[in-house]
Formats: sequence, C-alpha cells, structure tokens
Amino acid sequence: MTILVTGGAGFIGCNFLHFLIDNVSDKIVNLDSLTYAGNIRSIEKLNEFENYKFIKGSICDKQKITSIFREHQITKVINFAAESHVDRSILGPEEFINTNINGTFNLLEVSRLYWSELSEENKSEFKFLHVSTDEVYGSLALDEPPFKETNPYQPNSPYAASKASSDHLVRAYYHTYNLPVITSNCSNNYGPYQFPEKLIPLIITNALSQKPLPIYGDGMQIRDWLYVTDHCEAIYKIINEGLIGETYNIGGNNEKTNLEVVQTICSILDDLKKNKEGSYARLITYVKDRPGHDRRYAIDSEKIKKTLNWQPKETFKTGMTKTINWYLQNSEWLENITSGSYRDWIKKQY
Ligand code: NAD
Ligand code: TYD
Repeated sequence: MTILVTGGAGFIGCNFLHFLIDNVSDKIVNLDSLTYAGNIRSIEKLNEFENYKFIKGSICDKQKITSIFREHQITKVINFAAESHVDRSILGPEEFINTNINGTFNLLEVSRLYWSELSEENKSEFKFLHVSTDEVYGSLALDEPPFKETNPYQPNSPYAASKASSDHLVRAYYHTYNLPVITSNCSNNYGPYQFPEKLIPLIITNALSQKPLPIYGDGMQIRDWLYVTDHCEAIYKIINEGLIGETYNIGGNNEKTNLEVVQTICSILDDLKKNKEGSYARLITYVKDRPGHDRRYAIDSEKIKKTLNWQPKETFKTGMTKTINWYLQNSEWLENITSGSYRDWIKKQY
C-alpha cells in the first residue's frame, strides 16, 4: 500500500504526515511544489523514516504525476495541495485557478486512468480523498444553522470559488466514472507550522515583535476554529472508514469572532510571555475590511460524529495554548519564514 499525500509541506499536510508516520507502516509519498507556503523545514524530521519519500513537483504536471503513480503503485491519494489564502486570491486569483482547479483536475484524470487499469482487487483498495473547505458554502447570517453536507454551494472569494470548482470535479469523477472519491469540507484550522499570513499565526508573530495586530473591519466576523491535529484524525478516519462518494463536514463547534480570537491570544501571551509595556491587547488595530468578507462560517459535524465516531479533542483554550507554546519554542522556524518574500507580502497587504 502506498499513500500519496499532495501539499504535505504546507500547514495541514505536514501535521497530517507527522500524524500518519506514527500510525502506519505503509509507504508514504509526499508531492509538493514548495510554493511560498511549502516549507522543507516543516517536514525534515520525516526524512529519517524509511517508508517516507519527498518528491518536489506540481499537481499541475501530468507527466510527473503519471510516473509517480506507476512507479510507486499508489493506492490512496490525499489531496491537500492548494493555494489557500483568501487575501492572496483577491490580489491575484490566477494561481488559485491553476492549482486548485486545473491541478485537481490533473490529479483526478491521472487517478482515473491509473485506477481503470488496476486489477479488480487493487481497484477496490484505491481511494481518493479531496481535502476542502467550509468556505464553499458561502456566508451564514447569525440566526442560520451551521453548514450541513447538503447546503448549496455559494462561494464568495476567488479562493472559495476555486475550491468549490475542484469539489464539483471530484463529485463528477465519482458519478461519471465511479472513481472512488471522498470529499471533506473543514472549518478554519490553527496549530503548529501554520504560515503567518493567516489570522492566528499572524497575530502571534506580530505580538511577539510588538507590531500592530490588524483586525479587518469591525472584527465581528465569525469562524469555527478547529485544532489541526483534530482535523488530521478526522482525515485519517475518513480515508480508512469513510464511504465512497460521500462528503463529510468537519468542524470544531468553536464559533468565535475575530476579536475574541485576538483577545484570547493576547491574554494567553500575557501569561506565557509577560510584556513590560502592558498587555499585548494594546497593539490591536482596526484596519480596512477585506473585500467581500464572509461574515460567518459554522459547521454541523453530526454526520462524521455519528457515522465515523469522530469528535475534536481540543477545546479552543487548550488548542490555543499548545499553538502559542509551539510558536514560542520554534522561533527559528518562524524567523526563517518572516524574512524575504514574507515581508513583501505584509507590505502589499497591510
Ligand atoms: P497551505 O497553503 O499551508 O499549504 C499548501 C501546500 O500545497 C504548500 O506546501 C504548497 O507548497 C503546496 N502546493 C501549492 N500548489 C501546489 C501544486 N501546484 N502542486 C503541489 N503542491 C502545491 O495550506 P493548508 O492550510 O495546509 O491547507 C491544505 C488544504 O486544506 C488546502 O486544500 C485547503 O484548501 C484545505 N483547507 C484548509 C483550511 C485551513 O484552515 N488552513 C481549512 C479547510 C480546508
Ligand atoms: P484567515 O486566517 O485568512 O482565514 P479565512 O479567511 O480563510 O477564514 O482569516 C480568518 C479571519 O480573520 C477572517 O475573517 C479574516 C480575519 N483577518 C483579520 O481580521 N486580520 C488579518 O490580518 C487576517 C489575516 C485575517
């Protein structure tokens, strides 16, 4: 059995690989093109495992993926590879179309051709899990119930639209060709190794260097936060026990306004790394809102809870404390990222 993980040098992918290597003895191939979001340092510990192999390459490169499938006899595909930051998709949507739509299409097409030539026994082993987001469902009003798997797709940002598009392709490959696929739609993740362009690591990074903590608009937008390891466990359950052709929503049951999130980070930091000049909360700064900013996301995880017996282990407080401690203990990882092109992004965005 060989598991192909794409995008394994990114935030969720690398956390998933660390989890997977402790749980399986199967061969694992990590295919990642190492964009700005992919970080070889996040996966260096994996090199000591004989059943692990890293390949630098893009899911848009059909020839390369075809030869990976043939050479490594892939039995499971877990597709994390994507452009994932909403603000970048607003300033430059093209890469989102290339990777999220065309790249996923390539991966599906190569999978289909490879799978169609397998023996019946090997065919029944094969599975393709597409890792997607709750942003495909659009924005909720305060009084609306959380997203179920049956909610209509109403993506609002170029990022969400590109992920929605890829989800539709995955669905079509099941209905048209019977390719054994599953899709998961997860809420906002946080935890170790997250690139500091996303809210939580950006706030931790800025607070530690006494920089302003930017809050878009009124800060009352709501996200449903899930600690990354809980997401990894859900993915592991889905790839092993999930039903072919199904979709699973995964969420933390942890709805928080952005302001609450930032205040929580400040108060944990006040305890863990007291600042002489006063609480980190004094750095909170309201800035221009994101265009088309979705007001609220929330996930109804009943299906995965009931059918796969999954539920998150971390509360927001325990997950946040682990996360902040990780960033405090891994300043070298952070310093490596926050030099160079990261500075250009921050200048352009804020
Ligand atoms: P990330 O941006 O941290 O990592 C993406 C990884 O994909 C990087 O390592 C990058 O180098 C790689 N990549 C990009 N383009 C590629 C290509 N063409 N070929 C191969 N590799 C490529 O993203 P993340 O936060 O780890 O998200 C992983 C997946 O989970 C994405 O599909 C995202 O849509 C989804 N998701 C993320 C969240 C979240 O809160 N971060 C929530 C739900 C779903
Ligand atoms: P983000 O981490 O980019 O995730 P997403 O847009 O996929 O939900 O943002 C989370 C929320 O935080 C979102 O409502 C936008 C907001 N936000 C800020 O207020 N300030 C920031 O500097 C960033 C990056 C995000």
